[in-house]
Amino acid sequence: MLLGVDIGTSGTKALLIDDDGKVIGSSTVEYPLYTPFPSWSEQEPEDWWRATKEAILNVISKTGVSPKLIKGIGLSGQMHGSVFLDAKGNVIRRAILWNDQRTAKQCDEIVERVGGVKRLLELTLNLALTGFTAPKILWLRENEPENYSKVHKVLLPKDYVRFRLTGEYASDVSDSSGTLLFDVKNRRWSKEMLNLLEIPEEWMPKVYESPEITGTLLPNVAEELGLPSGIPVVGGGGDNASQAVGSGIVKSGILFVSLGTSGVIFAHLDTPEGDPEGRLHTFCHAVPGKWHTMGVMLSAGGSFRWFRDSFGDVEIELSKWTGRDPYEFLTMEAENVPPGSEGLIFLPYLTGERTPHADPLAKGVFAGISLRHKKPYFVRAVLEGVAFGLRDSLELMKNLGIEMKEIRAIAGGARSKLWRQILADVFNTPITTINVTEGAAYGAALLAGVGVGIYKNVEEACDRVVKVMSLEEPNPERAKMYEEMYGLYRELYPLLKDYYRKLS
Ligand code: XUL
Repeated sequence: MLLGVDIGTSGTKALLIDDDGKVIGSSTVEYPLYTPFPSWSEQEPEDWWRATKEAILNVISKTGVSPKLIKGIGLSGQMHGSVFLDAKGNVIRRAILWNDQRTAKQCDEIVERVGGVKRLLELTLNLALTGFTAPKILWLRENEPENYSKVHKVLLPKDYVRFRLTGEYASDVSDSSGTLLFDVKNRRWSKEMLNLLEIPEEWMPKVYESPEITGTLLPNVAEELGLPSGIPVVGGGGDNASQAVGSGIVKSGILFVSLGTSGVIFAHLDTPEGDPEGRLHTFCHAVPGKWHTMGVMLSAGGSFRWFRDSFGDVEIELSKWTGRDPYEFLTMEAENVPPGSEGLIFLPYLTGERTPHADPLAKGVFAGISLRHKKPYFVRAVLEGVAFGLRDSLELMKNLGIEMKEIRAIAGGARSKLWRQILADVFNTPITTINVTEGAAYGAALLAGVGVGIYKNVEEACDRVVKVMSLEEPNPERAKMYEEMYGLYRELYPLLKDYYRKLS
């Protein structure tokens, strides 16, 4: 039996699987997200810890398994967030999250200190983006000097939970890759980046490969959770790398497209040869000695949720009466809208955009509205607009020569057959779904299984447990039509870029 814990942005999930990868049960405990100013996004690390304990206790009591059978724990989590700890291990201020956009100035400062974008790409393989960790550290130094003077350690979200579970300051290579302080090529902290930004190396935790054991459960925590003390906790991974393990994306040719709040296109790399311009991220994979590249859209499922919450009153009401998902009612009518939504195009930049524009000021747009466009057209346009935005990442990957035989759709939005078909047509690539829908927590549990010797390695674990369940093939006619629309979609952002600046 293995336990996977994923520290997400909306909640923490604890998941139990057996040695054959069968899901025994899960429990998710939610917590608030604080936005004290527009574009800020923060959480209380104590909330993650409370939720972790509660979710573990819940899943054990719900499934009735004997805690003695749990052989290992794997952690996964939202990436990039900064947890600042003082010398006693106490949290100094709320954590600043991956989707926080306050650090544009610090990103410019990083590029300047490093001596230009080219050098930054050489050192880290990535660009300075507002969501990443290093600019958050600089922001603290400039804006909250008193808090900064107390900093003793900087941890990522899941690594704070690890600290509470094991007492160890440790991280894994995939999550550390998103700090902009990591030498992704050589899988270790970048002394040069730390020096250039004047961040002490002692602040950073020790880094492990994802399946490696980083410590064991502390006796007092074990007692509180009713678990045997000494259970090994492995490195685990950032949520995307863990998710990739849980979806079998551990070799070339198969990618995932994730339709969670954010949208991600993820591909495995055998070597650290990513996008030379850094529009795609290049990070270490949770598979030892491997890398991955990914493009991140900030509002994928988030765009659809925004639409449901703003215009879906009737569907939400219907769902209360029928017990069915309000999204089902929204997509039902959108199925009858002609592909291409008769010229209505949606730009999904509701919270700015990361790949490919790296523009925190970008905004959402519906372009081409006419009298014919009723609500179902807008629903379809949202689904199509998100698919076009994700195609931007896919195009960058195609230019790198990345092979794409199959793309696995995962996370909440993947439940929609209509959305999967739209993706297949817009990408002109088969879209599949898989047997496990437990996401990053599942990958984290598999990594624990590798760490404690149940599986030989990550690839073997995936082969054993991940199976394809459904397939949507692209339709050549629709693919051709979407090809043209995608061209129009691409023209819109450059036209609006200056306008976004005037709006902000
Ligand atoms: C990845 C990223 C997001 C978060 C979401 O770079 O910022 O996918 O990890 O949890």
